[in-house]
Amino acid sequence: MGKFHIAIDGPAGSGKTTVAKLVAEELDFGYLDTGAMYRAIALFLHENGIKESDDKGIDEVLSKVVFEYRDGRLYLNGKMVGDEIRTVEAGMLASRYAANPVVRKHLSRLQRDIADDRKMVVEGRDIGTVVLPDADLKVFLTASVEERAKRRWKELKEKGGNISYKEILKQLKERDERDSKREVAPLKPAEDAVVIDTTNLTPVEVVYKIVKIVMERLKK
Ligand code: DC
Repeated sequence: MGKFHIAIDGPAGSGKTTVAKLVAEELDFGYLDTGAMYRAIALFLHENGIKESDDKGIDEVLSKVVFEYRDGRLYLNGKMVGDEIRTVEAGMLASRYAANPVVRKHLSRLQRDIADDRKMVVEGRDIGTVVLPDADLKVFLTASVEERAKRRWKELKEKGGNISYKEILKQLKERDERDSKREVAPLKPAEDAVVIDTTNLTPVEVVYKIVKIVMERLKK
């Protein structure tokens, strides 16, 4: 089998990352975290003093940027993308830069290049709607905002962060608002997406549902 694209979209904390990674492992597919690309690019532009409103500056820089995917890892201009992108601040920066259509145009192109004709699970916000509209399977994960904030809070606490649940809830609501109201590629399920509410499901239960659908589609 050659190409098979599974798009997994949904808001922050819906379980996308955990589920997408497990699905990729289970099926022996590649895994592309497009949020990591937005985070890395946002940090990169920010560190180079290019503002999120500077369309021309962004276009110039992003026309030359090289993103590579090797052995499951992302490299930006030859440098491995690491944990520096996993902070709350980097998430906020990513959400701000992601509202700029020039940023989205370039990142969508880079993401299509990476997915190409591989077998891949591609995780993000607009994969099924914009990046890979012909994906073989589109999944949209949701969960209540309180449950999502709880998951994020636990995750950050395990990494040694000491941000409060209330602050995370506030930031998640802010990000949800910006990600779903932006004019370009707002966060919403594709018409042909399978929507799964993960509030009361374990990641393994969600993975099982997805793998089952993939198996059914592969049989066809
Ligand atoms: O999934 P994440 O939290 O790592 O994503 C960080 C930000 O990047 C998120 O607030 C919105 C943006 N993003 C996007 O606009 N489109 C994507 N395909 C992935 C992420």
